[in-house]
Amino acid sequence: MNTVSLQSASILPAHLAGEMRSNHAGETGAVWIYKGVLAISRDAEIRAFAEHHLATEETHLGFFEDWLRSRQKSLLLPLWRLSGFVLGAVSALGGGNWVYASIEAVETFVVKHYESQFAALEAYGDAALTAAIHQFCNDEADHRDEAGGEAYGQSSLLKAWCWVVGFGSEQAVKIARRI
Ligand SMILES: [Fe+2]
Ligand SMILES: [Fe+2]
Repeated sequence: MNTVSLQSASILPAHLAGEMRSNHAGETGAVWIYKGVLAISRDAEIRAFAEHHLATEETHLGFFEDWLRSRQKSLLLPLWRLSGFVLGAVSALGGGNWVYASIEAVETFVVKHYESQFAALEAYGDAALTAAIHQFCNDEADHRDEAGGEAYGQSSLLKAWCWVVGFGSEQAVKIARRI
């Protein structure tokens, strides 16, 4: 990733600062989702899947962690960590289908979330930042496809859970844009 021309986060306009705060919060949650999966699952395939995704999420989180100023980060980070961990752990308790379905639900949301920032990023004109967000979005699309590529049956309970996961992610982003 080219970060040579990445401008200081301190000069971000307010709307983009809010978006980047929600990105940092979301990547925090993502790291903790996979930690939650790994805390519970003993299935080798699920663990390999989670470890592979966790490594990518840690690079995404590291970008925002290093770049954003402390005062630009969400005040609710403990809540985003806890929510991510619980989401991952509950999914893993449900087994492989639940993990894949939950990750597909989360990553489907995250891809749309990043895509919603493309126009504002173009207008802002920091090429390195735009490239980074596009890269992260592509990674999340890979995660979504890796989770959803296999056909699996979904019970009504699992469908309801995935709805909660998608709705919860949406509310979390709305809150993290502000605080
Ligand atoms: Fe990510
Ligand atoms: Fe991801």
